[in-house]
Order: sequence, then structure tokens, then C-alpha cells
Amino acid sequence: MHDRVSGRPTGHAALAFFEDQHPPAGDFLADVLDGFSRSPKQLAPVYFYDAAGSAIFDEITHLPEYYVTRTELSILDRIGPELATLAGPGAVVIEPGSGSSVKVRKLLDALPDPAAYVGLDISGDHLKAACLEIAGAYPDMQVGAVCADFTQGLELAHLPLDDGKRVIFFPGSTVGNFEPDGARRLLAGFRRAMRPGDAVLIGADRVKDPARLVAAYDDALGVTARFNLNLIHRINRELDGSIDPDGLSHRAVWNTDRARIEMHLVAERAQAFEISGRPFHLHVGESIHTENSHKFTQESFTSLAESVGFTVRSSWSDDAELFSLHWLEPTAKA
Ligand code: AVJ
Repeated sequence: MHDRVSGRPTGHAALAFFEDQHPPAGDFLADVLDGFSRSPKQLAPVYFYDAAGSAIFDEITHLPEYYVTRTELSILDRIGPELATLAGPGAVVIEPGSGSSVKVRKLLDALPDPAAYVGLDISGDHLKAACLEIAGAYPDMQVGAVCADFTQGLELAHLPLDDGKRVIFFPGSTVGNFEPDGARRLLAGFRRAMRPGDAVLIGADRVKDPARLVAAYDDALGVTARFNLNLIHRINRELDGSIDPDGLSHRAVWNTDRARIEMHLVAERAQAFEISGRPFHLHVGESIHTENSHKFTQESFTSLAESVGFTVRSSWSDDAELFSLHWLEPTAKA
């Protein structure tokens, strides 16, 4: 079936390009075996997001205690006119880790005549679907997709991109998942792909009352607990594991020194188990560290950005200063 006017297949928008940069597939088994061999035991938060985990994360974003998503969306709604001025017409929006398209649509809707959108993600299938949806909703925009690991830098130079100002969109406070060194490496990777005049629009959650932070990561309905424990179910299912999830309990703690929420799974009782034939043991009270979510002040975020060659041109917060968005530009060389 074709649309009579445009001749495009109805409901089947096309991508301007799809490039597979062949990111080395993360080795779930090797990473889990390595993490469980450490002391304290640890797992990488990237593995939360299988289909079940992504669905639970979506539930988290609607929880009353989890202010993060709705606060960021409301800031985006409010600052549209300022973003339009900063970006100008013909911008090329690049989204590393393009997950839910809700946020980037707010950005695209705010901009005057954006030229292009490029989604970049490690999972090609999910990425293609998400970018096709954007292409369908924005028929005047060039939409491309790049399958790549954005933590390894952005290779944009050879892409068939319009020459407009590039705006790298990195919402959600995903930057908070990285330890300070990793966050610097990540932002430095963005920086290297940018030309003078390009920009990063990045979300960063703020330091606040620890009780409020802990509640956001240990909600009354136990959704975040389910999110955390899903990782154990995933290990049992995919890596032939025999961990007893009923012997583990979800814990969220505020680490003042490192300004981060940590999620742990703590053993209520001792257990011995196997993962792909390798034996492991947890003693009573032992913890598996599953996630860090770093929080920022205006000062700490500014110093992170400046340390890798960015100038913070604008920052926005909600009235309660729960969350911030920052507009970063490459620092002009003297
Ligand atoms: C997707 C990394 C921003 O740290 O708030 C939410 C993940 N973990 N609840 C966050 C998460 C538990 C989330 N980020």
C-alpha cells in the first residue's frame, strides 16, 4: 500500500542510512563470571535492560517516588524556546543510546526545522525500530541509525549528514551510571566528534535530600526491587545459573563521599550456586553491587564538563532543583 500523495509506502517510513559499526557484542557470561569473582561482587548495570528489564524500567519512570523522568520532561517542555534559539534552524540531532523516543520528540518539536536525527545504539534491531518511528513522525527530516557502542567514542565524520549544527542529546542522567573516570571518557568521546558551534544537551540528576534519593531507588511498590532482581533471573535463565533470588534482598544506599546512590542485592542467608558450571558462594549479609547512580551539583557537573573541554553555556532546573539539563559547547581555544 502506498500513500497517494507522496508515493511512500504508508506506515513504512525509510531510513536515510543505517550503518553497522559492529560494536563487539558485550560478553554477558564473561562479565558476570568476572564480577562474581571480585570482592565485593559486582554486576554491570547495562545488563539490566533485556526486554523484561526495559519494561520494568518503564514502570519505574511512572512511579511517584521516581521524580527523574517526569522532572526532565517538564524542564524540556519549559525550555523549548531557549533550545530553539541555541540550536537554530537546520540542526542535526544525534542521540547516543536512543531508547524511548518520547524525550527526543520534545526536543525535535521545539527546534525550528531540524535537518536530521541520528539514533545510535548498541542493539541494532531495537534501534532500527525506534528510528523508523521517528522517520514516520517527521517526514521532512533525514533520519539515520548507527549501530555502535557510544562509550567508545562517536564516529560521525563519514556519515552522509547535513552540515547543520550538531546537537548531541544525552538525557536521563545516564551519565550518572559511570564512575568519574568513565564519565570523563564518555564526554571526551562526544567532544572529539564535535566541531566548533556544535553542542551537547545532557541531563544530570542533582544531589538532594538522601531520604528522597533513597525513596526514588527503593519505592513502596517494590518495582525497583523487581528491576534489580530481574538481573538474577536473567543470569539463571541465560547463563544456566542456580542463584536463589528469594535469598536476596534489594538495597538502595546513599554514598555521601561519592555522591551516588548504590543499588545492591544482599544475601539474607548463605547460598552456594553455579553459573555455567562455575561454583560461587554468598555468605550471610554479603552484597552484590549492581548499580551506581551519581548525582551532581551545578559545581560538580561544571567541573566534569570543563575537565574535558566543554563550556557550560546554559543550565536549567525545575523549581525544586531536583534535576538539571545542561547545554555544553566546545571551549574555544585561545
Ligand atoms: C537510567 C541510569 C538514569 O540511575 O536513575 C532507575 C536507572 N536504576 N532506578 C537511574 C535506574 C534504578 C537510571 N538511569
